[in-house]
Amino acid sequence: MDRKEFLTTVGIGAVAAICTSCFAGCNPLDPMTNSPTNVDFTLNLADPTNSALNTNGGFIYKDNIIVARISNGSYIAVSSICTHQGNTIAYDVTANRFHCPAHGSNFATDGSVINGPASSSLTTYKTSLNATSLRVFS
Ligand code: FES
Repeated sequence: MDRKEFLTTVGIGAVAAICTSCFAGCNPLDPMTNSPTNVDFTLNLADPTNSALNTNGGFIYKDNIIVARISNGSYIAVSSICTHQGNTIAYDVTANRFHCPAHGSNFATDGSVINGPASSSLTTYKTSLNATSLRVFS
């Protein structure tokens, strides 16, 4: 391989690597296909890693799902992926809603859109509490 062939090969490889990483980082998530499906997991509320769920307003993330103990003490689980452009939502106990800090979308605790720019609801999941075991499932 001569110098010109080497530089051409390395240059093409470098461009491909840069483009691949840019496209992967720039592509927004498709909310219709990236919401978790076939969900079924159990959280141990006695485990310190889940201690946020022992207080109204606390929430945790697991596998692209946000599990929150809302202001009335019940547990809600919704996709943590904003349906606008895929940023991560958080639970706002003061307003009792889910909020996306990226562009300001807000969602009710049933996943419905309160205000955009998001126009689609969050996927919701069922929860069931048995003593200190909180099951989250589709
Ligand atoms: S990504 Fe959530 S409002 Fe834009």
